[in-house]
Amino acid sequence: MTRTGRLVVGMTGASGGIYAVRFLRQAIHHYSEIYLIASEQAIQVLQTEVGIDVTRETLNAQTLLGVPYDGLKVLQPRDYFSPPASGSFRHDGMVLIPCSMGTLGRIANGISDDLMTRSADVCLKERRRLIMVVRETPFNLTHLRNMVLACEAGAIIMPANPSFYNRPLTLEEAVDTVVARVLQNLGVEQKLVSEWGIEE
Ligand SMILES: Cc1cc2nc3c(=O)[nH]c(=O)nc-3n(C[C@H](O)[C@H](O)[C@H](O)COP(=O)(O)O)c2cc1C
Repeated sequence: MTRTGRLVVGMTGASGGIYAVRFLRQAIHHYSEIYLIASEQAIQVLQTEVGIDVTRETLNAQTLLGVPYDGLKVLQPRDYFSPPASGSFRHDGMVLIPCSMGTLGRIANGISDDLMTRSADVCLKERRRLIMVVRETPFNLTHLRNMVLACEAGAIIMPANPSFYNRPLTLEEAVDTVVARVLQNLGVEQKLVSEWGIEE
């Protein structure tokens, strides 16, 4: 498979670091460059939930995904001199996976106080695809309103809600039902989950 294009990925401290790992494992087969922004909390949650022994200093494709991939560019959270901070840098979209309520709220309200929120803000102003895999339960009214605001500004809200009609048997299979929908939404061919009504 030929890799083309650039993707920006933001990983926040919402529960569900496994979504980011499973998503990136697929995305590296499709994109020649992936720009990864991880919040402080994202790294802590990864350690806690996924058990990956990683720090900001050691964050790379090998430690995160267990495979080498030169196209993964790990960005510093406050480096506004890195490419996705500017609309002049062309890319194929940004995925926030998982997306915390804090990051959602900042983006929905135009608060670009770090590279993650600035890059998302750039996506919205440039009318590029911005997918937010939000995760929280239950939602309070502010969360819900922020999702509406973000959606009105052009973001695609894709909650980290697994589907069960394909009868996932493992945690990874359940997670992949969400990953598959994100990939489809990016226009990327995926074979994780078959299309409804289509025999494989
Ligand atoms: C183990 C763990 C799980 C968390 N799960 C969620 C969650 O599902 N959704 C959420 O919005 N925040 C969650 N939080 C809280 C966020 O990490 C916290 O609000 C943080 O400030 C988010 O920062 P960030 O958006 O910069 O990553 C969790 C925190 C921890 C330690």
